[in-house]
Amino acid sequence: MGLNTTHHFYEVNSFDSFPLKDQSVNLIVTSPPYPMVEMWDEIFTTYHKSISTNLKKGEGDKAFEKMNKLLDSTWAECFRVLTNGGFAIINIGNATRSLVGHFEMYSNHSRFIQSFKKIGFDILPYIIWRKPTNSPTKFMGSGVLPAGAYVTLEHEYILILRKRGKRLFNEDEKVRRRESAIFWEERNKWFSDQWEDIRGARQNLQQTAARKRSGAFPLQIPLRLILMYSMYGDIVLDPFGGTGTTNIAAIISGRNSIYFDTDKDLISSTHQTMKESLTPELLNEEVNKRMTQHISFCDSKEELFFKYRNEYHHFPVKTNQEKHLRLLKVQQIKAFKNHFKVSHG
Ligand SMILES: C[S@@+](CC[C@H](N)C(=O)[O-])C[C@H]1O[C@@H](n2cnc3c(N)ncnc32)[C@H](O)[C@@H]1O
Repeated sequence: MGLNTTHHFYEVNSFDSFPLKDQSVNLIVTSPPYPMVEMWDEIFTTYHKSISTNLKKGEGDKAFEKMNKLLDSTWAECFRVLTNGGFAIINIGNATRSLVGHFEMYSNHSRFIQSFKKIGFDILPYIIWRKPTNSPTKFMGSGVLPAGAYVTLEHEYILILRKRGKRLFNEDEKVRRRESAIFWEERNKWFSDQWEDIRGARQNLQQTAARKRSGAFPLQIPLRLILMYSMYGDIVLDPFGGTGTTNIAAIISGRNSIYFDTDKDLISSTHQTMKESLTPELLNEEVNKRMTQHISFCDSKEELFFKYRNEYHHFPVKTNQEKHLRLLKVQQIKAFKNHFKVSHG
């Protein structure tokens, strides 16, 4: 697959076996159904009927473990299909829940990390994504009376894992890697362990998709992660694709993508809405935004601050590595059955 064309595949698939070869994917960006968060009970219960009995009887720990065991098979598949040196990035939140009058927190992120470690992933520093909420849990517990009110969960985790081994680059890949550089100021902001600038709000590109029960993350999450952890032409997988946010981000950023989800109806409505609503103009808004933000950054600094000039776009840049940075735009998007073909330039 060359730099000028990318492909985006959609498939109904379950969590425990991916129809992909070993080491065939460069990056995984995903957000699974969250164990112990009520909206996902039904899905977990389909696979393990006794979970519903556990929940009714107030056996939270048992239900939590069974839900996590189901996801463990997905994590093992992620490990298998990832190339050596490839990254898997998992967005997850912890859950708070009252069962039979007993309130507790279920720590998904720490249970996930235990699992990733067992499978063989290297665990890297993670990002706390702060997303202020007006959720009613703010007032849970004893209200203003001490001592029994509960702290509100206002963050989620972006867990960063790597499959050990060194990624090697051939000559073509070396060029693509250089062109995929991010701006110096983006690097400083994005590689921080706390993200506070991304709200849960939907963006233009996501408005149309069927989102009621999707638990979709904002486009900025997969977009930023794809730019940080892959390069043009790479293959990005989201095994819990939902409304296709990761795939839209891959289209925008010139990566190939693969989407799986178990929900047949969600897949066909996602594919249909993408077919109807994705235009190059809309998709390129994000690229234009990066360009404009860089130009404003340049305007805010003295000329001497920048030592180099970018070869393609001619704007000043801070580091030698940004000289070959190239912002590609979507030129055309063609829909096929379960597949989009996109040209970039
Ligand atoms: C948290 S949502 C992901 C949302 C997605 N990131 C987006 O932006 O739309 C989890 C998704 O996993 C899907 N799912 C649940 N169980 C699954 C399974 N066993 N295999 C594959 N997908 C599953 C659900 O249908 C849902 O779309």
